Formats: sequence, C-alpha cells, structure tokens
Amino acid sequence: MRAFFYLLTAINITLISCSQNPGNPTAENKTQIKKESSSQPSEGELLFDNKCNVCHIKTKPTPKEIKTLSAPPISCVARQIKKDFSDKDIEDAKTFILNYVFFPDITKAHCDTLRLKSFGAMPSLKGSVTEDELDLIADYILENYPLTEKEKP
Ligand code: HEC
Repeated sequence: MRAFFYLLTAINITLISCSQNPGNPTAENKTQIKKESSSQPSEGELLFDNKCNVCHIKTKPTPKEIKTLSAPPISCVARQIKKDFSDKDIEDAKTFILNYVFFPDITKAHCDTLRLKSFGAMPSLKGSVTEDELDLIADYILENYPLTEKEKP
C-alpha cells in the first residue's frame, strides 16, 4: 500500500530533461575513470554489470554511441534522480530505484520523458534480480555518479 502511495506521488514529480552534454568529458567523469581503474569494483557494481549494464552504459556515450543506446546511461539516470531527491531523501531515491526495476513506468521516471519514450519501455526485472541485490545496486548507482558543481541544487 505504501509503495502504491509512493508511485502516485512520484507521478507528480516534474520531469526535467536529463542535461547530458555528450562528447564533452567533465572533471567529474575523469575522476570517475581514475577511481574505477584504481580500486576493485564493489559487489553492487558487479551486480550492476550483470543485470543492468547491457542496457544502461556506465560511460558517457560518444556522439556515435548515442544513436545506438537502448536506455539512458546510468550516470544520467543517477544524476537526474539525485537532482530530484535531496541528500536527506536518499532513502526515497533508493526506494524509487528498487520500485522502478520491478514496476517500470515512464510516467514515474525522472529523466526527460520524450527521450525515454524513444528507447521504449524498460522491462520489469522481477524474477531476474532480488531485492537484496537491488539494494546493493542502488547504493552503487547513488554513490558513484556525483552531481557536477553546476548541477548541485
Ligand atoms: C533490457 C534493457 C534494460 C535493462 C536490463 C535495465 N534497464 Fe533500466 N531502463 C531501460 C529503459 C529502456 C529505460 C527508459 C524507459 C523506461 O523508463 O521505461 C530504463 C529506465 C530505468 C530507470 C528510470 C530512469 C528515470 O528516468 O527515472 C531506472 C531507475 C532504471 N532503468 C534502473 C535499472 C536498473 C537498476 C537495472 C538493473 C537491475 C536496469 N534498469 C536494467 C532498460 C533497461
């Protein structure tokens, strides 16, 4: 019931476009690459690689890649969610991700809806990922794609 209520409120959240700036690597991206190459991937990242990466790429797409994307890059999803939920609502952001993977619905999404529609709908992953796995995946997503200074509220 609470989840249902949450879905209803999420529908009201304004859908702001995902301000990607493809082909223009930011400082944030460079540190990201450094971090990834110097440390072992976390369990959440390995699970993400297994369950989500086939559609949501982890790097910024090149202009050529943009045309072949089947879903928004995860950095875009993560940053848009972080813009819409404040730091103190991080648990709600996590709940949103968990719910979305089982019950995807573009009307609840945080990235630009028109752009999302061009990808088609995300299939529900109920049955192919567990809640415990999603918990780790959501932590990975929310901890690894920081907002740029310009994007911070
Ligand atoms: C088969 C391809 C596919 C897989 C696998 C997939 N997704 Fe998606 N996902 C999409 C597409 C396409 C969209 C955009 C359209 C939509 O929202 O229905 C999307 C949207 C999302 C959104 C909403 C973004 C927003 O704007 O708010 C989240 C969150 C998300 N995915 C998380 C995940 C996670 C976490 C996993 C792995 C457990 C995953 N996805 C696996 C295709 C996929």
